[in-house]
Amino acid sequence: MSDAHETAGTPREHHTSQDKSLAVQAAMLDSADELAALRDLFALHDDSVYLDGNSLGALPRHVPERVQDVITRQWGELRIRSWTEGGWWTAPERIGDRIAPLVGAGPGQIVVGDSTSVNVFKAVVGAVRLLDPAEPARDEILVDATTFPTDGYIARSAARMTGLPIVPVDPEKLLGALGPRTAVVLVNHVDFRTGRLHDLPGITAAVHEAGALAVWDLCHSAGALPVGLDAQGVDLAVGCTYKYLNGGPGSPAFLYVAERHQARFDSPLPGWNAHTDPFAMSPDFTAADGAVRGRVGTPDILSMLALEAALDVWEGVSLAAVREKSLALTDFFLECVEAYAPPGRVRSLTPAAHAERGSQIALRCAEAPAVMAALIARGIVGDLRRPDVLRFGFTPLYTRFADAERAARALGEVLTEVPAED
Ligand SMILES: Cc1ncc(COP(=O)(O)O)c(C=O)c1O
Repeated sequence: MSDAHETAGTPREHHTSQDKSLAVQAAMLDSADELAALRDLFALHDDSVYLDGNSLGALPRHVPERVQDVITRQWGELRIRSWTEGGWWTAPERIGDRIAPLVGAGPGQIVVGDSTSVNVFKAVVGAVRLLDPAEPARDEILVDATTFPTDGYIARSAARMTGLPIVPVDPEKLLGALGPRTAVVLVNHVDFRTGRLHDLPGITAAVHEAGALAVWDLCHSAGALPVGLDAQGVDLAVGCTYKYLNGGPGSPAFLYVAERHQARFDSPLPGWNAHTDPFAMSPDFTAADGAVRGRVGTPDILSMLALEAALDVWEGVSLAAVREKSLALTDFFLECVEAYAPPGRVRSLTPAAHAERGSQIALRCAEAPAVMAALIARGIVGDLRRPDVLRFGFTPLYTRFADAERAARALGEVLTEVPAED
């Protein structure tokens, strides 16, 4: 056991047995874990503990060979024929259909491409354009005040372009802010900083009750927990694929437009890929039907097909099991932190209630920059959100309970080495 507990004035023997019991508990939880075998699908051979899958998911081991084939055979040998014979041209909607069941969407509603930021733009402006022109008084765009910054920046630009005022609202106060002027609401499903899970069913229902449209950012929930886009009647949604979907650095994002809105969805970026007959090369734009309408320009095939390969790891995986393990992992990590960290040095910002928790734990710690640097030096990879938040992401497909225990133990040790700021 670390000196942390000695300096905190607790007898060493007590903590030695406690350490053992948490380590033993971790081993038992790992051996009972029905998802445990999935870890072997990932390139996680080194001795580090990777708790940053909420930022960049780990590499599925089979992806390099598949990408190699895309480069050497499809590009190198088939060359331009791959656009048709290799299925490159239809990859954005084909891969959208692979993501769809992971976020509770039926086929034909998701298209993959561009960054999340670009898709936020398409979704917010597209939602404003879906409004009923007979209701001009419905003119406010409500934006999650705690949002990942890009959503706020893009929404403000969308507001300037559409002439609608923007109203930042804390998601916890959102229901009270809805009214006859609410046009579009943009919310994050899980707060990137705190890991708080927002009530997608309740908020979506209330937004509809108010006569407005709900746009959700699923970056921190897609692949981490069940989303239920169709069942909850979400209007539009965006999400990235490089976190819990393990698509690789900068892998393309996705856009969901519910089927009932597709015929009227008027993309603010109607590139030639969204044309009903792109190779007619017509000077006039006629939008394609369905999810294709959300496309813009030539897809980034190398990233796109790396993502497609990465999605193979989801074959036969139950999202309910993923959610159950995610909650068990985060509960267990919190229990270990409570046991190992010197009192008063860290405080969880992530809600204790399961219904309000995503798949990460955020700990407030005054010395967070030095603590995270020391953790990474010991092979415990989480990340820092300045100035004082330590983030630890738990990816149920490959994170073990033993990783949670080891990370919390290292945190306890590091906290004894990094002096507390008063
Ligand atoms: C909630 C959220 N939205 C948007 C983004 C930005 O996505 P992109 O860089 O793909 O535009 C991120 C990135 O981490 C995010 O966490």
